[in-house]
Amino acid sequence: MSHVMNTYARQPVAFVRGEGVWLWDEEGRKYLDALAGIAVNTLGYAHPKLNAALARRIQSGVLHTSNLWRIPDQEAAADRIAEITGLDEVFFCNSGLEANEAAIKLARKYGHERGIAEPAIVVMEHAFHGRSLATLSASGSRKVQAGFEPLVSGFVRVPLNDLEAVRQVAENNRNVVAVMVEPIQGEGGINVSRLDYLRGLRELCERRQWLFISDEVQCGLGRTGKWFVYQHAGFLPDVVPLAKGLGSGVPVGACVVGGRAKGLFKPGNHGSTFGGNPLAMTAVCTTLDVMKEERLLDNAARVGGMMTEALRAALGGAKGVSEVRGMGMMIGVEFDEACGELVKAALDAGLVVNVTVDKVVRMLPPLVMSEAEGREVVSRFVPLAKAFLGKRAAA
Ligand SMILES: Cc1ncc(COP(=O)(O)O)c(C=O)c1O
Repeated sequence: MSHVMNTYARQPVAFVRGEGVWLWDEEGRKYLDALAGIAVNTLGYAHPKLNAALARRIQSGVLHTSNLWRIPDQEAAADRIAEITGLDEVFFCNSGLEANEAAIKLARKYGHERGIAEPAIVVMEHAFHGRSLATLSASGSRKVQAGFEPLVSGFVRVPLNDLEAVRQVAENNRNVVAVMVEPIQGEGGINVSRLDYLRGLRELCERRQWLFISDEVQCGLGRTGKWFVYQHAGFLPDVVPLAKGLGSGVPVGACVVGGRAKGLFKPGNHGSTFGGNPLAMTAVCTTLDVMKEERLLDNAARVGGMMTEALRAALGGAKGVSEVRGMGMMIGVEFDEACGELVKAALDAGLVVNVTVDKVVRMLPPLVMSEAEGREVVSRFVPLAKAFLGKRAAA
């Protein structure tokens, strides 16, 4: 019996080697990776520049010091993140939920400073913000919350893409201090916010002096063809939680702030032992540098767009497929019914994908995926999807 706690329904496959967008399992079988460890491995596997930078970091002997001291690589990483986000200050942590936890604390502090004793945050149905008590309470999924009540209070939930619902909250609830939105919901099934909705939300935040928190843990960092989804809509949020792809496999999170959220935290308000340590910061600086050098944002838009179009052409009108949607390299194929068995069929065919909310096959490839490799993903996936649909129709 394994001593690993039983928190994941795992496939019986272990990947032991990787190169580019390819993985090998213990038996030497080769797989094409269209998931990137759930949007984490931005540069794929064994990128020579990342490997070399991490090796240099190890050879320096300093993997960790402490936030009691200056950390030059942390300052360099914060500069790079300020440049790509257009924001001002970065708090480093180790995961997405920690980045969101910092965002929630910031919103509460912002409220208290404005004399609101019980600040509330508007959050969205089907959102996923993490599994700490505050972030699971902010998430819009009963599955994530069930069994962990009492939930943290101070969240008001509305449907995504419904500006009128947020306006009504604004009319009726004087405690609201922020809106927290995943511009493209990942765990929720690749649900894309309309850009005019995001702009409307931003305007409402402006009018009401609320913070706009854009959780780009999954959809951010180049995956949609711009650094961040809010850049497609053409405005700046106040708070941007990040993680996943930021260290291309080295665990790291960041809560980035500007506007009204700037300067809220003072020494002693928040912290993290590991957050921003030299190992993680080397990964961040190198990942962001390589993304620029290799023009990976353009690549994500071009190859991801091609994959979505090809999937739509092959499956879009098919009986049993409700929609093919996404932006750049964030792609969902929604079926009418549960399609979990497709993950197993894809693995058997040497393709790594994932299913979320039971019915949506999700593809989040490494941003280094080439056009030929993207075509290969589609040509491996489409026959499996058609076989699955055929079996369902016959049943
Ligand atoms: C949008 C979003 N926010 C937060 C999280 C939580 O991140 P982590 O698992 O690193 O805590 C996730 C994870 O899937 C996510 O997709």
